[in-house]
Parts: sequence; structure tokens; C-alpha cells
Amino acid sequence: MTQSPKIEDKENLLRNKAFLLETIYIITIIIVTILVVLDFVDTGFFLGPYRFSHWMGIIGSAFILVFAPLYYILKRRFPQRYKILLNLHIFGFTTAFLLVSIHLAGQLSRPLQFYPDLGGGVALYILVAILVATGYLYRYNPITLKGGKKLQPHTNRMLHLSLISGLYIVLIVHIVLNFLLA
Ligand code: HEM
Ligand code: HEM
Repeated sequence: MTQSPKIEDKENLLRNKAFLLETIYIITIIIVTILVVLDFVDTGFFLGPYRFSHWMGIIGSAFILVFAPLYYILKRRFPQRYKILLNLHIFGFTTAFLLVSIHLAGQLSRPLQFYPDLGGGVALYILVAILVATGYLYRYNPITLKGGKKLQPHTNRMLHLSLISGLYIVLIVHIVLNFLLA
């Protein structure tokens, strides 16, 4: 049998350092993304053959493509290392979200005459953002509904897992169309 994370109750949550750190991390990512979109931070400079913002997309995506199946396998093969693997999962994928957010923001802040054809990349970003949101809601379950009821954790788990195949398809198509065939 595989393990699942313990769902926290509200009082524990406010004393849970990992929850506070993850929440601050996600808010910081939103602020950084806005700063890049508004051109307060420049990510369009070249590092070797590619722009910095492209490197961010490449590194973030490489982590996602490699670590998702690796986590699935390692979690089952080494159940005694589950806690470390889950923490690596949460903070690793959140960091990948930071990197692909910089890539997205770099694209959105391009000058009008070089503006990209928005489409697949935006859909891809929405997929990653929903994966982060459902992972966060499933792990910490911070929302209390009217009458003190909690959201059903398995709804977020189902959404989280079902989006992964879609993410792989759109990401591979994005890489082939924009990078390999461009
Ligand atoms: C989850 C990861 C990624 C997200 C969310 C993302 C998002 C985007 C977005 C929104 C655009 C603007 C055009 C469009 O909407 O399609 C774009 C363009 C681009 N992306 Fe990504 N991307 C990701 C990963 C990657 C990777 C891994 C590569 C390279 C291997 C890459 C290479 C490019 C290139 C070259 C363009 C520019 C296309 C042009 O100039 O028209 N992206 N990306
Ligand atoms: C691109 C981002 C992400 C991808 C591709 C992804 C992928 C996965 C995968 C493959 C599983 C495996 C489930 C299994 O073994 O049956 C999983 C479970 C899970 N993910 Fe994510 N995840 C992402 C982001 C996140 C984030 C940011 C969080 C938390 C903030 C999170 C929290 C969880 C939790 C709590 C589980 C259930 C853990 C378990 O059953 O071992 N995920 N995710």
C-alpha cells in the first residue's frame, strides 16, 4: 500500500512552518511574476545561446518532466523516505512554478513588434498553476466552508492527478513547436 499525507486541522496549520513557508513562497511568486510582466525586472538578456527567461522555462520544465515520474516510483520503492520525498515534491514543484512563471512573464513583457502568438503556452501555464493550487489545497486543506465543514481532500487529489497527463501532452507539444521546429 502507498502512503498519503496527513491532512492538517486549522489550529495545527497556523503553527505549521511548512504551510507558512509555502504560502509566503506562492505569494512571492505572484509578486515576482507581476514585476517581470510590468518590466520592473528584466529577464530578456542573453545567457549563452538563450535568453534568461527561456532558461527558466527549460530548467523548470525539465524538473517537472523528470521529477513527477521519479516521485511516483521512489515513493513506492522507499516508503520509509516518504516525508523527505513529499517535501522535495512540494518545494521542488513550487520552485519549478517560480521558474516557469518567469518564463511566462518574460513572454508577456516582450515589445509589441516582437510579441509572441499567445496560445499553447498560456494553456500550459494554467495547467501548472492548477496543479500547484490543487496540490496546496490537498496538502494543507486551509479553507473552511460555512458551518465549519472542510473541502473534501479527495476532490483536489483527483484533479491534481488527472491534470498531469494533460500537462505532459501540452508541454511536449509546446517544446516541439516553439523550440525544436522553430
Ligand atoms: C510549463 C512550462 C512552460 C510554460 C508555462 C511556457 C509558457 C510560454 C508562453 C505563454 C509563451 C508565449 C507563446 C504561447 O502562448 O505559446 C511561450 C513561448 C515560448 N516558449 Fe514556453 N513555456 C514553458 C516551457 C517551455 C520550454 C521547456 C521551452 C523550451 C524548451 C519553451 C520555449 C519557448 C519559446 C522558444 C517560446 C517563444 C515562441 C515565440 O517566440 O513565438 N517554453 N512559452
Ligand atoms: C507541476 C507541478 C506538480 C506535479 C507535476 C505534481 C505531480 C504529482 C504526482 C505525480 C503525484 C503522485 C501521486 C501518487 O503517487 O499517486 C502527486 C501527488 C501529490 N502532490 Fe503534486 N505535483 C505538482 C505540484 C504540487 C504542489 C506545488 C504541491 C503542494 C503544494 C503538491 C502536493 C501533492 C500532494 C500532497 C500529493 C499527494 C501525495 C502522495 O499521495 O504521495 N503537488 N503530485
